[in-house]
Amino acid sequence: MQKTLLTGATGHLGGSVINYLPKDNDPASIAVLSRHPDGETTNGFHERGLDVRIGDYGNPAELERAFAEIEVLYFVSSSDVENRLSQHENVVEAAKKAGVRHILYTSSVRKTEGPDTVLHPIVDAHKQTEDWIKESGIAYTILRHNLYAEVTPLFMGSRDQLLQSKTVYLPAGEGRVALAPREDLAKAAAVILTDPAPYRNRTLEFNGSERVTFSEVADMLGDILKEDIQYVAPGREEFRKTMQDHGVPDDAIWMTDVFSTGIAEGEFAGTTDELEQVLGRKTQSLRDFFRATYA
Ligand SMILES: NC(=O)c1ccc[n+]([C@@H]2O[C@H](COP(=O)([O-])OP(=O)(O)OC[C@H]3O[C@@H](n4cnc5c(N)ncnc54)[C@H](OP(=O)(O)O)[C@@H]3O)[C@@H](O)[C@H]2O)c1
Repeated sequence: MQKTLLTGATGHLGGSVINYLPKDNDPASIAVLSRHPDGETTNGFHERGLDVRIGDYGNPAELERAFAEIEVLYFVSSSDVENRLSQHENVVEAAKKAGVRHILYTSSVRKTEGPDTVLHPIVDAHKQTEDWIKESGIAYTILRHNLYAEVTPLFMGSRDQLLQSKTVYLPAGEGRVALAPREDLAKAAAVILTDPAPYRNRTLEFNGSERVTFSEVADMLGDILKEDIQYVAPGREEFRKTMQDHGVPDDAIWMTDVFSTGIAEGEFAGTTDELEQVLGRKTQSLRDFFRATYA
């Protein structure tokens, strides 16, 4: 019986992956990492018979204990962008010491690497982590995720905000992005975890099936909201100043600016249909996704 541990299981992505694993799996063959001590709520994992292991990415000793007897590790990248690099190093080192045989790592797509790309602060940690995993000698599957479709409402605003402004305002130019619904990324991960062998030592680029501009997204939203929604693509300076004038917090401005500019520069245009291949179908239609989100 292959013993698999999922990190990030209390989050959106990891939680969905668990739900897509075959129901006839022995629950005890699935371990989840939680950084909340025993006794505190762990999303009903104990009740479902899952093997709950306690560990924080910032604590190497806890991680090594948590990874004992684990063969396959589904490693969700840390949401703590500031401390991500050292946390990821801890995870890979602990996996090595514990004898993990195969790591699946949720990375990020990119067209370019290096300090000159606008996405460097994000991509650099993913690239370094990929390198550590490859150098570890452990079998790997790198899953380079495109931007989640779920992220775009954070960039574009709520239904009420869109109905008021009638504008999608982002410095994304006419760049295309292969937005990937997070549920499809989770389903594909579950497929691979169920039979990891064909995916050993491979790097897969997980793109959504549609490659859209925000001009096209604004048209879709216009149809869904039955309003004339226009797309305005300001320059970066103008975007940042406008957001500051509207009192948007600095970190939200930074995130939206960096990802939108990355889209403008073609970093998320996506070059493969490997997500479709693993799923055996197209990803959820973006029109359906936006209808469910905004209607
Ligand atoms: N491609 C994209 O568009 C995109 C968008 C957003 C995020 N991401 C990346 O994808 C990852 C998964 O996304 P998501 O939506 O599932 O995020 P999420 O809902 O915020 O979940 C993050 C998970 O990571 C866990 N975690 C965070 N810091 C940890 C630590 N120090 N030690 C152990 N576990 C830790 C969280 O545990 P707790 O429940 O204890 O907090 C949670 O389970 C994110 O972490 C981020 O790196 C990608």
